[in-house]
Amino acid sequence: MEYKIAVIPGDGIGPEVIGEAIKVLDAVGSKFGHKFEYDYLLAGGCAIDEKGTCLPQETIDKAKAADAVMLGAVGGPKWDNMPGGERPERALLGLRKELGLFANLRPAIMFDELKGACPLREEKVQGGLDIMIVRELTGGIYFGERGFKETEDMGLAAYDVEMYSEKEVERVAEIAFDMAMKRNKKVTSVDKANVLESSRLWRKTVAKVAEKYPEVTLENLYVDNAAMQLVHNPKQFDVIVTSNIFGDILSDEASMITGSIGMLPSASLAEGAFGMYEPIHGSAPDIAGTGKANPMATILSVAMMLKYTFGLSEESDTIEGAVKAVLEAGYRTPDILTEGKTLVTTTEVGTLIAERI
Ligand code: IPM
Ligand code: MN
Repeated sequence: MEYKIAVIPGDGIGPEVIGEAIKVLDAVGSKFGHKFEYDYLLAGGCAIDEKGTCLPQETIDKAKAADAVMLGAVGGPKWDNMPGGERPERALLGLRKELGLFANLRPAIMFDELKGACPLREEKVQGGLDIMIVRELTGGIYFGERGFKETEDMGLAAYDVEMYSEKEVERVAEIAFDMAMKRNKKVTSVDKANVLESSRLWRKTVAKVAEKYPEVTLENLYVDNAAMQLVHNPKQFDVIVTSNIFGDILSDEASMITGSIGMLPSASLAEGAFGMYEPIHGSAPDIAGTGKANPMATILSVAMMLKYTFGLSEESDTIEGAVKAVLEAGYRTPDILTEGKTLVTTTEVGTLIAERI
C-alpha cells in the first residue's frame, strides 16, 4: 500500500524529532512493504517568517489532501510578542478546526523502565499506569465567541464563551466509549456540572451515549475532584473524556504523573480515519539543535498513526516494541537519564529504534 502523509516539522526541536520519526517510519516501510510518501508543509513560526502567516492556505489544502498529518511542534520566543491572532500556536488551533479534528487522544502511559521518574509514591502507581484521555478539540471556550466590552464602573472587560452542542459532545463521547470497549471498560466524564450549564448538557449527553454501551461503566467527576483524584489515586482511571479546556489541563497533569512528558504521543482524530499525530511536548527552543531532544514521543505518535488511521496494528506494535527495547537496553536522552544509563543524542535514538524494527 501507498500512504500519503503531510509532514509539518514546525519550530524548535520539531524538525529534529520529526526527522527521527520519518527514519523509523521508513524502516517500517521497508520491513512490511509499505510506501510512505511525504509532503513537507509550513506552519507555525517558520511559516510566519517565510509566508507572513502562521498557517498558509496551501498547508491547509495539502494537509486535507493527505491520508494523515504528522506534526512536530510550533512556537518559540522569536514570535512571542506577536498579536494573539498571529502567534504560531494559532496554527495548531487552525489546523484542528480546518481538519475537523474533534477528538484528541492523549495516552498517559508509564513505561516500566522509567517508573523512577514518577513523582508519586510507588504504591500509588504499583503495576504501572495506563490512562487514555479523550479531549474534545474543536469546541468549547477555545472556539466560542470572544471579545471585549467596556463596563460602566469596572473598566475594560474581556470574555470567551464556553458552549457545547449535543452533537459535539455525542461524537467525542462515542470515541471515548469505543476506546473503553477495547480497554478496561470504564469511562470517567469530567465536567463542572455543579456550576456550568454547558457542563450539565455535557453530562446529560454523555449519559445518553452510555446507554449504547451497557458493558462500560460510566462515572462522572467534577473537574476539581478529577484533578485531585489524578494524584490521589490515578489507577482508578481507564478512559477520561472531557472538554477542550479541562482536557488541556488534565492531560498535562496526567503526563507529569508518568514522569516523562518527552515520551507521550497524541492523536487528533476527525470523522472517519483521518488524523493528525504529534508529541505532547512543545518546541523546546532552549534545546533546539543540541541533540538533546527526545524523539520517542514523536516516534510513538507515528505508531498511533499506523494504528488509528492506517489500521496497521502489527506495524504499530513493532514500533512500540522497538521503543521499549531501546529503553530496556539503557539508552536515554537527558530528559529521562538516570544513573548507570547510556546518554545518547536525538539522532542516535532514532537510529537505535529503526535498527530494532
Ligand atoms: C496543547 C497546547 C495547545 C492547547 C496550545 C499550544 C494552543 O497546550 O496542545 O495542549 O492549548 O491546546
Ligand atoms: Mn496543553
